[in-house]
Amino acid sequence: MQSSPVDQLLSRVSNPRLSEPSPSPEILDEVFRCALRAPDHMRLRPWRYLLVEGAHREFLGNLFETASIEASMQRDETLSETQREKLRKMPLRAPLIIVAISKNLPHAKVPMHEQELSVGAGLSYMLLALQSNGFGGIWRTGDMAENAHVKAGLGVQAQERIVGFLYVGTPLGDPKKIEPLDPADFFKVWQP
Ligand SMILES: Cc1cc2nc3c(=O)[nH]c(=O)nc-3n(C[C@H](O)[C@H](O)[C@H](O)COP(=O)(O)O)c2cc1C
Repeated sequence: MQSSPVDQLLSRVSNPRLSEPSPSPEILDEVFRCALRAPDHMRLRPWRYLLVEGAHREFLGNLFETASIEASMQRDETLSETQREKLRKMPLRAPLIIVAISKNLPHAKVPMHEQELSVGAGLSYMLLALQSNGFGGIWRTGDMAENAHVKAGLGVQAQERIVGFLYVGTPLGDPKKIEPLDPADFFKVWQP
């Protein structure tokens, strides 16, 4: 029996371990359409997404490495070969990486953080759409998302922000156990 959208939400987990295959073009089309249903103040469509797959992931890994070497030199530090290899291999952790970018358009009524939230909502919808199609993903950021060298290499403009790298693929192993949280700990009736 197919689970309801709410069941899907309640069972959503991230998958740090991902392998081939990637979702088919048809499934990806559905996943992308879900991202485009994110709430969007003034319908600015403040998002754009880059798909990094196949050998291009190695280019991205090289970009991570050179960016980190540059950043470490500025701190008068040197990266070890182990650290450099780890950076090069980062994008190989999934067959597909979706770079989610907020355009951060200048707008009188919609500040940049609202546009970034909108892109974040799109990322969440993609995670859900992937899971409901038997695939998985994980939203990552880290230093590389903020790094000017990485941004330039990906063609991301200075005012734009990389909201996340969505690693996408087929989950390996069992889904992790979900830590039960009590809504009462987070939701309170406001007492004026
Ligand atoms: C904005 C944002 C950035 C994140 N960056 C990373 C990251 O760089 N590395 C990482 O392992 N997890 C990162 N996470 C957390 C994972 O995506 C994931 O949510 C977390 O491991 C909890 O797992 P769950 O989604 O299954 O509850 C980030 C989450 C968000 C919302």
